[in-house]
Amino acid sequence: MAQIIYNESTREFHLQNSRISYILCLLENGQPGHLYFGKRLTHRDSFQHFIQMRTQSHTAYVYENDFLFSLDTIRQEYPSYGTTDFREPAFEILQENGSRICGFSYKSHTIFRGKKPLSGLPATYTEEGDDAVTLELVLEDPLLETDLVLSYTIYEDYDAVCRSVTFHNHGKQALSLTRALSMSVDLYDSDFQMLQLDGAWSRERHITSRPLTKGIQSISSARGASSADHNPFMVLKRAHTTEFSGEAYGFSLIYSGNFLAQAEVNRYETARISMGINPFGFTWKLKPGEQFQTPEAVMVYSENGLNGMSQNFHNLFNNRLVRGVWRNQERPVLLNNWEATYFNFNEEKILDIAGKAKELGVELFVLDDGWFGKRDDSGSSLGDWYSDLRKLPEGVEGLSKKVAAMGMKFGLWFEPEMVNKVSRLYEEHPDWVIRTPDRHMSHGRNQYVLDFSNKAVVDYIFESMKNVLEHSEISYVKWDMNRNITEAYGSVLEPERQGEFFHRYILGVYDLYDRLTSGFPQILFESCASGGARFDAGMMYYAPQCWASDDTDGAERIKIQYGTSLAYPVSSIGAHVSAVPNHQVKRMTSLSFRAHVAYFGAFGYELDPNELTEDEQQEIREQIRFFKKYRKLIQFGDFYRLRDPFENHGDGAWMVVSKDKNTAVFSYYKVLAQPNPKLRKLVLTGLDPDKKYRCSRTGETYYGDELMNMGFLEDPQFTGTSARKDGVRQDSGSDAGDFTSRLYVLECCL
Ligand code: DGJ
Repeated sequence: MAQIIYNESTREFHLQNSRISYILCLLENGQPGHLYFGKRLTHRDSFQHFIQMRTQSHTAYVYENDFLFSLDTIRQEYPSYGTTDFREPAFEILQENGSRICGFSYKSHTIFRGKKPLSGLPATYTEEGDDAVTLELVLEDPLLETDLVLSYTIYEDYDAVCRSVTFHNHGKQALSLTRALSMSVDLYDSDFQMLQLDGAWSRERHITSRPLTKGIQSISSARGASSADHNPFMVLKRAHTTEFSGEAYGFSLIYSGNFLAQAEVNRYETARISMGINPFGFTWKLKPGEQFQTPEAVMVYSENGLNGMSQNFHNLFNNRLVRGVWRNQERPVLLNNWEATYFNFNEEKILDIAGKAKELGVELFVLDDGWFGKRDDSGSSLGDWYSDLRKLPEGVEGLSKKVAAMGMKFGLWFEPEMVNKVSRLYEEHPDWVIRTPDRHMSHGRNQYVLDFSNKAVVDYIFESMKNVLEHSEISYVKWDMNRNITEAYGSVLEPERQGEFFHRYILGVYDLYDRLTSGFPQILFESCASGGARFDAGMMYYAPQCWASDDTDGAERIKIQYGTSLAYPVSSIGAHVSAVPNHQVKRMTSLSFRAHVAYFGAFGYELDPNELTEDEQQEIREQIRFFKKYRKLIQFGDFYRLRDPFENHGDGAWMVVSKDKNTAVFSYYKVLAQPNPKLRKLVLTGLDPDKKYRCSRTGETYYGDELMNMGFLEDPQFTGTSARKDGVRQDSGSDAGDFTSRLYVLECCL
């Protein structure tokens, strides 16, 4: 059972479920200290011995004639700077007298079952009957007459602690928050490797690993979106931790804007991990009577390696972050016309594609960019969310009804946050664009960003999208966002509030998402940002799936999907089969290789099926039939990474096991063929050792324990020679050439 035990005599809080413990206490100055985060500990009367202080450490001390109590050495929960701690703090408050020194100490606390929603922000939630419990720890700075509420929730079913912080100014002076992170924790040591998800357009969420070293190591975004460069997520793992065993801590920020995630290793080699809104460029005015709530951070601990950590995130996000009708719902197989037509289409062409897609088994047709205003290229019409009647004589309304009449669902692309100068919207409201007064205005893809910190803008966009959604048969929306913010400035914000701009912008995005998802609860939203440049847990609260990357090449996608899966579930990873030569890297791969990769996601196609041969169309029919049969398992089963493409020249392998361990699907990929290669086997995991499984492809049966110890012997790779015997080549091995893959289903047969 998840519980939070308060020990009044030691002033300790022990958060625990059946597998993990998180222990904090009140230090002698009333500040919260950190004691432990890791595998569950037996509760005891005191954990005070976990506090280690140092005499003679040649630092500053809090109390006169005391050479022990120094915040420089004591591990803390939500530290401030300058009262004997010299590390980067979790928060900083600029006061009217210019000081930034604070003195928050314990005021009260409450422990209650369940969890409160965050205001205007995405967050994990609980439902009636959930075994989850929350601690709200209220700290007060009497001089500032300000409270700080630290919220911690622990679930029984997920090994996660969810944290957020609220500042309340009850006093008389106007304060400025110049830093307000969501979490901070001082881990006992720094013997970790830090993993992060880095990239750029078309190669998002590649895994980077580095050992923690003294000083600050951080990732962040200042682009106005979480970005393709770094994801708001990081992992600390021990050197010996593998995918399958060893300690791993994962930290995820449920936020889509500018963020910071960092580890600071100090003189005693403890590691301060913190995460939240990027303090760079951030200030938030907190006037008397006002309050500010940070986004939520999720901290996961696993002793079962990286896969164990990831599965906690997957289960938590699938069950307690994604909401509404699409939670745990199999995602429709879709076909998107972007790579099939780009901007160049008309109704006839679209109906041709949709008709063929339907015939092949596709369930949802998605009309991408180019249906509105007078949009023939990226230079015009963003913001004009009404149909281009030149291309669609009966508008989206007519088209969507025709697609629906074919027995297929219809989806539509929007880019709600953007405008082109060549548009009606810009003509009527040039002042709605983000720009700094009297300064040059930079562009990205010929477009400009609307000021979503201005409610009037959000209201307008909501009304125009609502109008389209209400009048057409739309069951899916792809929400794109194709440029970062420059010359940031909020036109309706007072000068002293300009530091709030980026956060207010993202609150505006969340507001629009909230209105659309509550107004149209049946619609499935897919988020997108030039591919996966805003793939984060914040988006997932509104949009259960996200277009992972504009790179649809199968070989590149192995890395992208592998990295993404560190934090995000298979159900959320938009993955499509596209045409060859691939549009991003010009690579040729087989149709089956592309599908074997894309199956492990929210699966679909991004091509013109009419351009395929009969054989290829037949192959797609079979792919879709296969996928529909196993998608529940693939999208919501337990996913395991088996072979790391970042360490195996791009080769990868993964598997998904049903929760009852009766069925599993696994797949491996070879990117480049090697001459005379070594033998290879794939050691599976997550199966029931005592169950017997039949393999669909080999027809053989295997016990779970064989597959998880000896492993599955892979198809021998090709070794060739031009020598012939009796006219026959003396080759061996069936797995020949570059870009090959194998996919197997195991069904329990006992
Ligand atoms: C970027 C997206 O990632 C693509 O899938 C496509 O929707 C284009 N934008 C359309 O402009």
